[in-house]
Amino acid sequence: MTSAIRTQVGIIGGGPSGLLLSQLLHLRGIDNVVLEKHAREYVLGRIRAGVLEHGFAELMREAQAGERMDREGQIHEGFFIAHEGGQERIDLHALTGGKTVMVYGQTELTRDLYEARDRLGGKVIHNAEGVQLHEIDSAHPSLTYRQGSETRRIDCDFIVGCDGFHGVSRQSIPKEKIQTFEKIFPFGWLGVLSRTPPVSSELIYANHERGFALCSLRSSALSRYYIQVPLSDTVEEWSDERFFDELKHRLPAEVASSMVTGPSIEKSIAPLRSFVVEPMRYGNLFLAGDAAHIVPPTGARGLNTAGSDIYYLYHALVDHYSSGDDRGLESYSSRALGRVWKGQRFSWWMTKLLHRFPDDSPYDRRLQQTDLAYLFSSQRALASLAENYVGLPF
Ligand code: APR
Ligand code: PHB
Repeated sequence: MTSAIRTQVGIIGGGPSGLLLSQLLHLRGIDNVVLEKHAREYVLGRIRAGVLEHGFAELMREAQAGERMDREGQIHEGFFIAHEGGQERIDLHALTGGKTVMVYGQTELTRDLYEARDRLGGKVIHNAEGVQLHEIDSAHPSLTYRQGSETRRIDCDFIVGCDGFHGVSRQSIPKEKIQTFEKIFPFGWLGVLSRTPPVSSELIYANHERGFALCSLRSSALSRYYIQVPLSDTVEEWSDERFFDELKHRLPAEVASSMVTGPSIEKSIAPLRSFVVEPMRYGNLFLAGDAAHIVPPTGARGLNTAGSDIYYLYHALVDHYSSGDDRGLESYSSRALGRVWKGQRFSWWMTKLLHRFPDDSPYDRRLQQTDLAYLFSSQRALASLAENYVGLPF
């Protein structure tokens, strides 16, 4: 049996992209429903990056979901790049004329968005199985999904695919209508979360002959560390002791000697991948966030680029419903992709600058060293890094 409801915007995926869009639209009186495949606890069990650019934090405030972020998030005015046994600070604040980033875990941010949705009585349907998109190239698209033994249908004006890289939305577009661009990196990041005071109050990105390392944090009592590992490695091969031993090897001696270690409370390996689909629209289906593009985590662009998609799409939908102005919807894909590709370029550059590639020749290695030497000898090069890291304008 099929029961049907009607809404204006059907959103697939209850990650940060889908929830943020849902909340922003609701506040502007645009009816929407979010279909999420998993239970809320499952979505909130994922540990992901935690650096927010100014524009993303502003969107959270506009969505009335920024209160805890502003209370508990940390403003960072700079970060370090460690190499050749020392470390140099990138003064984001000075290099960008006063801009900063906010360190606030994506898991907490997603929790805040769910709570904001609950407060407004937002429609978020969990455990929506077998979501399918219908007639997306018509004026009457619809969604179907299963809940238990029942099949349900949602009729809408627009569908927004916020269902991540493995979602169903992108796959529902005929193959010949899209082009995909992809680069798979020959290594992954092994990440550990531990209830220990962070070794540094600002992030440290390290280039070391044994491979890349990153010291990040969630709070004054919670550290997040990463090391580059071969794709063939498994989590089981990395005891906490081996992990911290290797991490310390890759950091300047004075940093390593002050590191407090403790049992991991989460440990996982994530492959590094770059991916973009063009265009980000097919008929009345719009793609946003990880459904349309992926970056390696090195430049902290993933969530932030999802944020710019949502910004463009939110304003485009508001214009459509408030004044029948469809210019924003028509230009959504090209505007979003313009910024997406800048994020791709920056993430690729940071990744190349800081990692050891298995096939690198001595020539490649010298170029990398020269890239670092040039960076720290040129205020203009540093300013370029800083302006990308804090986030280019929307
Ligand atoms: N039906 C319904 N929901 C689905 C489906 C499906 N077929 N497939 C996936 N989903 C859900 C996932 O369970 C997940 O909760 O869509 C959500 C997608 O969330 P994310 O993967 O977090 O993607 P997004 O919301 O775009 O978040 C931005 O940028 O680089 C990243 O780490 C960053 O995850 C962050 C992302
Ligand atoms: C993180 O804290 O998880 C993190 C921070 C910065 C990055 C990637 C991940 O570039």
